[in-house]
Order: sequence, then structure tokens, then C-alpha cells
Amino acid sequence: MVVDSDEQLYVPWPFAPLASRERVRVRVRVGSGNTWTDESEPLEIEAGLLEQDDWVKQLISPSTIGRLDDGAPLLFGSADLDAEPISARLYLTAHGIVEFTINGNRIGDDVFAPGWTAYEKRLRYRSYDVTPLVRRGTNELRALIGNGWYRGQLVWPGNRSSYGDRLGALAQLEVNYADGSREIFGTDDSWGAVPSSILFDDFYDGQRRDLRITDSPEGKRVDSVDVLDGDFARLIAPSGPPVRITETLAAVQLLTTPSGKTIVDFGQNLVGWVRLRVHGEAGTVVTIRHAEVLEHGELGVRPLRSALATCTYTLSGQPEEILQPTFTFNGFRYAEISGVPELALADVEALVLGTDLQRTGWFESSDPRVNRLHENVVWSTRGNFLDVPTDCPQRDERLGWTGDLQVFAPTATFLFDTAGFLSGWLGDLAAEQKPDGGVPYVIPDVLREPDPAAAAWSDAATIVPEAVHHAYGDVGVLRQQYPSMKAWVEKVRSIVGPDLLWRTGAQFGDWLDPTAPPDDASRAQADPAVVATAYFARSVGILACTAETLGLRVEAADYAQLEKQVRAAFISAYVSEDGRVHSDCQTVYALSIVGDLFASERQRAGAGDRLAELVTAAGFRVSTGFVGTPVILDALSTAGYPELAYRMLLEESCPSWLYAVSMGATTIWERWDSMLSDGSINPGSMTSFNHYAYGAVADWLHRCVAGLSPSSPGYRTVDVRPLVTGDLSSASARHLSPYGEIAVEWRLENGQVDLTLTIPYGVTADVWMPGASVAETVRNGSHRLRSELQPLQYASE
Ligand code: BGC
Repeated sequence: MVVDSDEQLYVPWPFAPLASRERVRVRVRVGSGNTWTDESEPLEIEAGLLEQDDWVKQLISPSTIGRLDDGAPLLFGSADLDAEPISARLYLTAHGIVEFTINGNRIGDDVFAPGWTAYEKRLRYRSYDVTPLVRRGTNELRALIGNGWYRGQLVWPGNRSSYGDRLGALAQLEVNYADGSREIFGTDDSWGAVPSSILFDDFYDGQRRDLRITDSPEGKRVDSVDVLDGDFARLIAPSGPPVRITETLAAVQLLTTPSGKTIVDFGQNLVGWVRLRVHGEAGTVVTIRHAEVLEHGELGVRPLRSALATCTYTLSGQPEEILQPTFTFNGFRYAEISGVPELALADVEALVLGTDLQRTGWFESSDPRVNRLHENVVWSTRGNFLDVPTDCPQRDERLGWTGDLQVFAPTATFLFDTAGFLSGWLGDLAAEQKPDGGVPYVIPDVLREPDPAAAAWSDAATIVPEAVHHAYGDVGVLRQQYPSMKAWVEKVRSIVGPDLLWRTGAQFGDWLDPTAPPDDASRAQADPAVVATAYFARSVGILACTAETLGLRVEAADYAQLEKQVRAAFISAYVSEDGRVHSDCQTVYALSIVGDLFASERQRAGAGDRLAELVTAAGFRVSTGFVGTPVILDALSTAGYPELAYRMLLEESCPSWLYAVSMGATTIWERWDSMLSDGSINPGSMTSFNHYAYGAVADWLHRCVAGLSPSSPGYRTVDVRPLVTGDLSSASARHLSPYGEIAVEWRLENGQVDLTLTIPYGVTADVWMPGASVAETVRNGSHRLRSELQPLQYASE
């Protein structure tokens, strides 16, 4: 949706923070595709935060029960209403994660509320319309609280209580009556606490539940509650959708392993829960263990490292019991189930969890392997965008690694409406930034490095806001992040010294270069100083453009000048006259080419030719890590070697994107060879099967293979420029832009390229048919263009 106010404003998600008292005036144009109604009269909507003074209730915690290892406490209270309400709203947050019920009805369909933010500085609350659930008389209010990110394990094994050791809940029920009066109920010292059926819960290790124990206070010794110090200035409204169950998958097959275990295969590596329907005698223990892969026919749990990823249930003996976790999640394709003697396939299903983002991007081609690769990227996004954009969802890690998101952001913004999700995460990034501008490697920052500054990781501070702005055209995200972006660039300036080369400090570099040994992922071919200085140039360039966009003329000119100087320093230190780049490997050429870090045509052409030589010599296999991989195909196509880019994309031998596909991957792997060709798991301790970083190649599929790329923020103008070499006979991409859906499809038949294009109102497209030297400009409507496929003119010819 595009909303025009004084300036153009993109509202990413249906005004969700309705918890607000602040009102803004906007004008709305409604429609999609080519059908738009006129702009509305200015409209008032609610936005912003609940005023601090409006929080009257208190953050409460059980006085003695619910300590670490006690299981999830149940807090309970009530609201006595003298009259029938006309409306009611619940505001809710927690230290921990919370499920709330009113009169036995679960509130909302969101999972793990209130989510994970930089809790010390920003604590999100959620609000719910609970009008249908509240009635005259006594209403029972209950909050079940799990450890979640607040008190569960985070970072490395055994490291719990990152934010505090007491769980708590803050709820405020606002009830409105017909006479205009309002009453507020909620958590305070009149509440009580009891143990629940959840005896243990942890994201890494799983959950233990005894279904013989009820989740109610009846018949239990009641503990009092303490009111904790509540810093309400930390409370923030959500800027994106919550985590929800986004899909239910049926089990595909039941397997019996060589050691006699029963394993369910869901056919897809996913993130979420196993739901099981069982009947058994009271006291029977059902155990579910999870893993992404099998090894030698058994559950392959080694990649999970210390994470136990195990759920156990003690049955109550009811004729039918539904087993489903509450306060944990797993990354898995396989589940090993014990304690259910006659398990039927129909009794098991998988519930897919993730931030409930609207899908906005699609891609297809004539090659099913490439389509599966793209599908794998989508699944890795769904699994890892779980409240925070994480590196991986299964082992004892699951952190918001900045480098991973930075390389993946352009892909993510095309595939899903991530505007609110990523703006919220960027708010946390800014909040966690060090006073001197250093940017932590994970956001929220649970690593707590004293002086974090690493190229490509900390550069998320500039690159992610730019990607969000480019995709959605919302200047607001740049305005919100500008101080953080600037602080980061100034931090690097303070590190580099007068020669502007970034040669000091610890770097992740071209992390997980395939030539690096399994136990040292930073030992890459690319010199970390080349990577770091190239990223410095990029961040300064982004900052200069951002200042320009925000009308900060003087700063824009200063940073443009600095960018020139950093580029000059890079070129003179690392690029030879004939275009050789220091440390001479795929990644350094790719970075130099996409950043155009050259002073002459000779250097530019020389670097392109050298990259082509290296790629050919490597047998078209990938030789790049986290930094080089997102740009290697762009670099080849930019340098005039599109046929090599396709050759590399379609290569199946390891390392390559399609190697994993040929091995049956259903998500993107962390390592090119997470699974070795003999079916054994890579011996490295970092071996995830669900890491989206290498999936950044999908951005190239969208922009270059299908040929759809935004040429100005928010897809106001687009370039349609498909790269047709004959390797594929068709490709298509669709993107639901802020202006409506843009669709491109091309087919190659008998040497003719046939392109169809749908452009919504408000968007202008420059179409470059293969071989054309000028673009044809088209506007809203459907268009069909044809051209002969010209023989390729390679740069080396
Ligand atoms: C994570 C990566 C991350 C890296 C940085 C790993 O453990 O899984 O994806 O970027 O550490 O060091």
C-alpha cells in the first residue's frame, strides 16, 4: 500500500500498533495492479506508542516458584465487571514469553509474545481486541510464562538468564462501557502464581510437559507475586507482524531406523513444532527428538551441538490427547518418536512457525533445479525470520547475526514484506550500538563484545536500511537510522587512520570460504583488509546518498568526498594497473567489480577477465564465502561474462548452489558441503542445513535472470533487463511492490525472446530486450515485446 501524506510514506503493515493515542493524518490511494481509486480525503489513523502514563498496571513475578528449572509459572487474577462492556482491549508484555487466556480462551494467535528485542532498552508489547471474550461478572485472567529469549539458553551451551533471572508478566485490560466510562484491570499484587504442566522449557533443549497436571490454580498451593521494578520508558509498539503458525504440513513417511527407532519424515526442512495425536495410559512418556538430516539412517543430531531439541510429554490417559509444544521451537525435517506403540502417519503433522510476513516475491524458470534452489531460499527465510532474523534455527545459536542479514536483505525484501520486521530489528541495532558507533555482531546483542567492529557484519548498520528503503521507498527508515549509520561510518574512520585502509582488528572476512578448514571458517583466500576496505567504501557511499536523500547537503558532500578518498586508497593499495586485485581470488574481484573500485577502463576489464579466468580454472565451482557469494554472479554478468554466471549457477559439483539441491536439500545450507557426497555430515562444528546467507543468489535470479530490478526506491521505476543466454528457455518473476504487482516473464523459442510484462499504475519500466542498445519505456498496463536473441558479445572478445 502506498500512502501519501505531506511526503510519501509507506505503511508496511496494517497499522498494527493500535495501542496508540497519537493520531496522524494520511491520504490513502487504494487499489492494485491497474485499478486504483482516487486518493481519499485525509484520514486519521492511530500510530505511535501508548503513552507512558497510560500504563497503570504492574510487572509481576511469582515470589518463590518459577525459579530457573522450576518450569513455566502460571500467573492468575481476575476482572470483576459491573456492566456488560462495549469494547475491551488487552495490552501485554513479559519478561520471558507469554500465553494469555481470558475465561479459558487463548488471546491472539501469535506465538512467543512479546518477541525478542534489546530488552534492556526496548521491550515490545502487543495489544489485542478482546471484546468478545470479556463479560459482566467475574472474568478469569491467566498468564503462562516461558523462559524464551529472556531467561532460556542463548549464545553458547548453558548460558542462561541473559536478561535476568525472574520471569514476569505485565498485562492491562481496558474495558469500555456504554456510558463512556473506562476501567482498567490487570497484573498487580492481587494476583497469585502456581506451577503449570510445563516442567521445563527452553528454545535449544525443548520442553517437558506432564499432562496430568492442570494449567489452573485449582487445588494447588498458591504463591504470592512480587511487583518488579518496571521501566515503562522501554515499552515499544510492534512495527511488524508477530510469529504465528504459518502452515501445517502432513507427514510424508514413517521410517524404521537400523537401530529400530521410529522416525517421521516431513519431506521439508522447516522450523516449528510437531503436533501429535495420541492415546495412551496415564503416566506413559512420549518423547520427540528432532533433526534436519539423517546420517547412516539414524537421526543426525550432531549439527545441533549441545541443543537437545527434545520434547517429552507424560500422558494424562484421556481418550485422545494432542501433544504440541508451547515455549520451544525446532529446526527439523525428521522427528524421532518414542512411547507411541502404533504410530499412524495421519496422527502426526508439522506446524510451521515464523514471523507472519506477507509473501511478495516469486520466481520460476525452465530448470526445476533452479526452482528448487529458489524454493529452498524461501524456506530458509521462513524458518530464520522468527521474530529476529537469525543465522540458523536449530543448533545452540539462533542469533541475529548481522553479516548474514546484510548479505541477504535484498533477497528478503523482494520475497516478503519485511518493511516493519526489518525496521524493528534496525531499531534494536541502533539501541545496541556502542557510544563510539561500534555495531555488535548479533542483534539483539547477547554476545556483548566490548568493542565490536567487523567489516560486512557491522556494516549491516548502513546496508540494511538502504536495502529496506530501496525496496519500499520509505524515507522514514533512513531518517530513523541515520544517526546509527553515521556513527558506524565514523567508527570505521576512527579505526582506519590517515591511509583509509582498514587493516587492523579482528575480522570475519570472507567467512566460510570453501577452502577454509572445517575448524577455521575465517581462513579465507581473500585478504581481510581488502574486504574491509571495500566495505568501508560501500558504507560511506550509502551514507553520502542517505544524507542527500534526507536533504543534509553539507554532510552529503562531506561523505561523498570521503567515499572518493576511500575508493582511491583502495585502488592505489590493492588494484594493479592491469586490474589484478590483491589476494587474487573470486571474492576480491567480485567485490571490486560490483563496487566499481577501479580508476581506469584497463583495470575494470582486466579484473573482469581475471575473474573469468579464476572461475573457469575452478571448473565453475564457487570459491567464495559469505562476502563473495552474494555478488559473484553479479560481478560476472556486469563484467560481460553472463555465460559464466549461468555456468556457475547451473554447476552441480561441490562447491555449488546446485550441489545441495542434487543432494536433496530443501533449505539453504550453511556450508557448501554441509552434507558430504557420501551422505555423512560435514565434521565441522558449524554445520547447519538452514542458513540463508548463500541464498543471497536469489537476488540475482530476480534481477538478472528474470530481469526485474527496482531502479529507484520503492519500485517507482524499474529496469526490466533479462539475461538470456540460452541456458534457460524461460524465467519469470512477480513482485508485489508498494504500487501493486509487477510481473515479468520471458520465453526463448527458436531464437526469439518473447517477453510479457505487467506494470501497475504509478510505475515506469525501462525495458532492455536482449541485445538492444536502448531501452523502451513503458507504463501501467500489460505489454508484450519480442526480439531476436543476439549472439553474446563476450568481454574477452
Ligand atoms: C554463524 C554465522 C555467523 C558467524 C560469524 C556463526 O556461528 O552461524 O552465520 O555470521 O558465526 O562469526
